[in-house]
Amino acid sequence: MDGTTGRTVGDATGPRIASLCTGYGGLDIAVQQIYGGEVVVCAENDKHAARIVAHHYPNVPNVGDIKTVDWSPWVGGIDILTAGYPCQPFSHAGKMRGEDDPRHIWPHVAQAIRELGPRLVVLENVRGHLRLGFGRVIRDLADLGYVGRWGCLRAAEAGACHRRERVFIVAWPVPDPHVA
Ligand SMILES: C[S@@+](CC[C@H](N)C(=O)[O-])C[C@H]1O[C@@H](n2cnc3c(N)ncnc32)[C@H](O)[C@@H]1O
Repeated sequence: MDGTTGRTVGDATGPRIASLCTGYGGLDIAVQQIYGGEVVVCAENDKHAARIVAHHYPNVPNVGDIKTVDWSPWVGGIDILTAGYPCQPFSHAGKMRGEDDPRHIWPHVAQAIRELGPRLVVLENVRGHLRLGFGRVIRDLADLGYVGRWGCLRAAEAGACHRRERVFIVAWPVPDPHVA
C-alpha cells in the first residue's frame, strides 16, 4: 500500500507508470503485460521517437528531456518508474566512455527516482553496462533506499529471432521495519 495515494499495485485502475527514455515504448509494454496499469507521463526528447510516443499515448504528456524536467506535478502519483536509459556510454559497439560520455544520463534517472519515490523501478540496458557504470547505478539505488535484483535476458528467450542481450534491473524501496 502506498501511504501517499492509498493505492496498491494491481488494484482496479492499476499502477501509474512514469516512462523515462520511452523510445518506442517496448519496456513499458513488457511492464504493463506483467503489472497492468497505465503510462501517465513520458519523457522522450528525440523528435522522431516522440512521434511514436504521441501515437501510442495520445493523451499522455511527454515532458521531453529528463535533464530539465520538473517532476513536482507527479510527486506521490507514480507507482512504477521505467527507464531504458541510453546504452551508448556502455555499449561494446561504442567508445565505452562511461560517465565521460555526454549521453550518460543515469544521474537524471536517479534524480527522478529520488523525487517521485516509485514503489517499483524497472531499468534496462545493454549487457556491457555490467562492466561499466553498473556499480554506480546499484550504489545510487541503495543510497536512495532501494533494493532489487538484476539479470540478463536474450531477445531470443522472449521469442524474438535475434540474440540481443539486455540487462534488466528491478528495484523497490527497502521495507520500513516499523510499518506492519
Ligand atoms: C535505448 S532507447 C530506449 C528504448 C526503450 N526502452 C524502448 O523500449 O523503446 C533510449 C531512449 O532514450 C532517449 N533519450 C536519450 N536522452 C534522453 C533525455 N535526455 N531525455 C529523455 N529521453 C532521452 C533516446 O531518444 C532513446 O529513445
